[in-house]
Order: sequence, then C-alpha cells, then structure tokens
Amino acid sequence: MSVESPEDIIALKKIGKIVAETIHTMFAKMEAGMTTMELEAIGSSILESYGARSAPKLCYDYPHATMISVNEEVAHGSPSERVLQDGDMVNIDVSAELDGYFADSGYSMPVGKNNKRANRLCRAGKEALEAALSVARDGRRIRDVETAVNKVARKHGFSVIQNLVGHGVGRHLHEAPENIPFWGNRKDERRFEAGTVLTLEPFLSTGPRYVRNTGQGLTVGTPPGNYTVQYEHTIVITRGEPIILTAA
Ligand code: CO
Ligand code: CO
Repeated sequence: MSVESPEDIIALKKIGKIVAETIHTMFAKMEAGMTTMELEAIGSSILESYGARSAPKLCYDYPHATMISVNEEVAHGSPSERVLQDGDMVNIDVSAELDGYFADSGYSMPVGKNNKRANRLCRAGKEALEAALSVARDGRRIRDVETAVNKVARKHGFSVIQNLVGHGVGRHLHEAPENIPFWGNRKDERRFEAGTVLTLEPFLSTGPRYVRNTGQGLTVGTPPGNYTVQYEHTIVITRGEPIILTAA
C-alpha cells in the first residue's frame, strides 16, 4: 500500500509494534529443551492479547500463528514437537493484522551463546539488513538493495539466498511491489517511491544460494549442515531514512 494519511501511519505502527513485541518475547523465552510448538504458544497468546490476527492464518489458511524455522529450515517452518538443542539456529517470522493493516517481521538467533559460526552469521545478517535500509529511499533503484546486501555478504564470506524476496505489505500480507530481490536482477528499473510500505528481508547463508521445498508444508530449506539467517522489517519509504514500523 501507499500511505495516504497520518491515520495510516498510526495504524501501521500499532500492528508493527505488536509484531515486534511478539518476536522479541518469543526469543527472550527461548531455551534448549523447549519445543517449537511451545514457542509458538507464547507468540500466539501475545497476538491474541492485542486482538491481532496471524496474517498467514488469515491469508493462506496456515494452521499456526507464527513461523519457526530451525537450522537447515530457512523460512515458513511449522511449529512442531521438535525439541530445541543448544546451538540450534532459530528463525522466527511473525506477520499479523489489526484493523485491516498488516506488518511482517523476522529475526534469527541461535539457542544459547556458544555457536560461534552462528553468531558470526547473525552479525553479518543484521549488517545486511542495515545496508538494505540505508539505500531504500524515494527515487533510488530497488536493485540498489541487492548491491548493498551482496557487498556485506561478500565481505563476511557468506552467500545470499537468491530465491527469497521482500514484498509490498500493509493492506494485505503480500501486495505490490512484488519481488524485491536480493540478487542479480540487472534489468530491474523500478525505483522506490515515498509512501510505499514494504518489507526488506535479506537471507544470508553459510554457502547455499537457493532454498528448496522441504516437502513439509510450506517450509523451504537448504541441505543439512548449513545455517541461514533472515532479518526482516516492514518499512515506509520516505525521501530520507525509511520509517521502520517493526522496530522493537
Ligand atoms: Co515478508
Ligand atoms: Co516475514
């Protein structure tokens, strides 16, 4: 959507904050020995307490409130009886609706503090999102985002997943502009426009450049032994720095 009034911004910030709090609280309570379904229950009850509705449930009949992906799972992971182990890489992606407005955010963190490879990848992933945010402004090419993200990935020796993208959001979970790529789309002449609400969500990985369907529901992943992180914000494009709607 494109923001048309101060009321739009207020409503988007409201659902953005709820999504951010949900993810933040889930990670704060995450520990080894827990199942991902227990983590889901925490997230689900926070959304419910605000009267917010899970966007994937609403838009795609997805059976859970949150998406939790572990290790070789990269995105759209389904909460299950899987027991989290120390060192597991976990991604939580929450998108939700309130009063007809949608926000979408994702964050990755390992269980415990001792997985050095995972911690290094997390730092690079956060830097990649920062780099993407720094070029997302009115008048700039959308593909400047991929240049910025790939520069960070290369610097740290990680790969960028090529077949997962950012997207417009606001009145629906996925809307125009579709397909905000993080890799190699040189013919893309589209430019960011002030007022547009969209997500930036680069995925950095320890080697793989593509995710595949795992055969389990909507979950996409890589071969075992790899980690992938995603950091995602819903933002509003302006002439200066974007407004981050899903900041904690
Ligand atoms: Co998204
Ligand atoms: Co998301």
